[in-house]
Amino acid sequence: MSSTRPLRVAIVGAGPAGIYAADILSKTDLDVSIDLFERLPAPFGLVRYGVAPDHPRIKGIVNALHKVLSKGDVRLLANVDYGVDLKLDDLRQFYDAVIFSTGAIRDAALPVPGIDLEGSYGAADFVSWYDGHPDVPRTWPLDAKEVAVLGAGNVALDVARILAKHADDLLPTEIPANVYDILKASLVTDVHVFARRGPAQVKFSPLELRELGHVPDVDIVVYPEDFDFDEGSMEAVEASNQTKQVVKTLTDWTLVEPSTQKASRRIHLHFLHAPSEITGDDGKVTGVRTERTALQGDGTVKGTGEFHDWPVQAVYRAVGYFGSPLAEIPFDELKGVISNREGRVVDMDGDHLPGVYATGWIKRGPVGLIGHTKSDASETVRHLVEDVTGVGDGGDVAAGDPAGGRTATHGDPQAVLDFLVDRGVEVVEWSEFELLDAHERSLGEPHGRERIKVVPRDEMIEIAKGRA
Ligand SMILES: Cc1cc2nc3c(=O)[nH]c(=O)nc-3n(C[C@H](O)[C@H](O)[C@H](O)COP(=O)(O)OP(=O)(O)OC[C@H]3O[C@@H](n4cnc5c(N)ncnc54)[C@H](O)[C@@H]3O)c2cc1C
Ligand SMILES: NC(=O)c1ccc[n+]([C@@H]2O[C@H](COP(=O)([O-])OP(=O)(O)OC[C@H]3O[C@@H](n4cnc5c(N)ncnc54)[C@H](OP(=O)(O)O)[C@@H]3O)[C@@H](O)[C@H]2O)c1
Repeated sequence: MSSTRPLRVAIVGAGPAGIYAADILSKTDLDVSIDLFERLPAPFGLVRYGVAPDHPRIKGIVNALHKVLSKGDVRLLANVDYGVDLKLDDLRQFYDAVIFSTGAIRDAALPVPGIDLEGSYGAADFVSWYDGHPDVPRTWPLDAKEVAVLGAGNVALDVARILAKHADDLLPTEIPANVYDILKASLVTDVHVFARRGPAQVKFSPLELRELGHVPDVDIVVYPEDFDFDEGSMEAVEASNQTKQVVKTLTDWTLVEPSTQKASRRIHLHFLHAPSEITGDDGKVTGVRTERTALQGDGTVKGTGEFHDWPVQAVYRAVGYFGSPLAEIPFDELKGVISNREGRVVDMDGDHLPGVYATGWIKRGPVGLIGHTKSDASETVRHLVEDVTGVGDGGDVAAGDPAGGRTATHGDPQAVLDFLVDRGVEVVEWSEFELLDAHERSLGEPHGRERIKVVPRDEMIEIAKGRA
């Protein structure tokens, strides 16, 4: 093998991490040919299937990602599922290097009694449903009047807001028709969010928290007895402007006169309540039990042995996401990430699996904003380039290696397409996705909406292939 042909790189997962990695790699001095694989018929990962529909500014990041893929430097191969349609040994035939950027889609576990009762849900599943993910059921039971959301991160805020918001206020967004219909019929009146630590320890972003106070016909209710600040809290407020803003917003809400609150729906924010059990009757959720916690001085909490029962008919756990293992790739079961050192995938002995890399949430865990996946991708791509060129701290390929890291036996870009067609995989390429994109925009246009998403996978493919 000579280094006369471009370096062939596969990136698996077309969320922001994968797209930024492709963009950064295409701008290096390497002569490179990049294929971006995606399991779904549409790219953009959680920007399309996670970011809340009533956050159009963030959804707009899709436009920047769109630009990267329309430049033509990167070939999209969507509707291809790594682990099912192909595995690492297959990829090694066609590519000299592989970057995994498969993100996280599952909910982290919450090991409390009653978590499997009917009416107890994971936030990730609910998010996938309201954002029109093609692989989840079309229906969602919204027959609870009182609902608990466990956890105090931005996902908890998204879930609480979407549950409490009147469906008509979501109508201008890209929510699918089935989601609107079901939200419209929701019986919810009260959403209780439970944080196990204090107001200075929540992981809400200031902007997202303030937004909660502006949801039409929804009051925010806080409880002064939940407001405790230990030395660790004061240090956190001093150290972070964000924490300061969050604490101010929450504290301002304690001053609101209850008699002025007349909305038909409420979001209650509870602090220093750790979920200890989901209670039920006849297999169904009837309540949640929390244990009052106390701050210990350093921002951590301990249980006080004082329990509270809250009547609710549904519980959503929003205690974080968790990555899923991938076939033939070393996985850290504790952290839910691909085992890696700064993006170089490592085996059990800590040795780099030559040519294999990771980036985004599957590299460092399910925390951080879309922008963070860019710096992540820079680090991973830097190591890949070092390994291929032998320049820098990398060491898979010695400097001056005549093959320049070109290990694939089939360097022709057509070969992988032939392989997938032989396996009966209906690959959706960029120009085909553009048809689907245009179709969704045309559905939205008469209603003054940016787009209306097509949800069923088959329908997405039919439209992309120009058969519908
Ligand atoms: C509910 C929610 C709301 C959020 N809202 C915001 C927000 O408003 N602002 C913000 O900045 N950040 C937000 N974030 C964070 C942001 O979404 C993440 O930082 C970012 O999406 C992580 O990027 P990623 O590419 O690593 O993963 P993902 O976005 O999850 O992309 C991974 C991609 O890999 C694909 N994939 C997975 N497995 C396979 C496989 N086997 N084969 C092929 N493809 C595969 C997936 O289908 C997906 O397209 C939110 C996160 C969540 C969970
Ligand atoms: N609009 C936006 O910008 C937006 C929207 C959504 C998501 N995101 C980002 O996406 C990332 C993921 O968000 P996330 O909300 O899933 O995660 P997160 O920010 O890590 O929040 C998880 C929450 O769950 C709590 N928790 C964890 N285990 C628990 C348990 N056993 N019992 C009770 N509570 C528990 C945590 O409490 P402790 O702190 O006590 O551990 C924390 O409050 C974050 O970086 C977030 O900012 C951003």
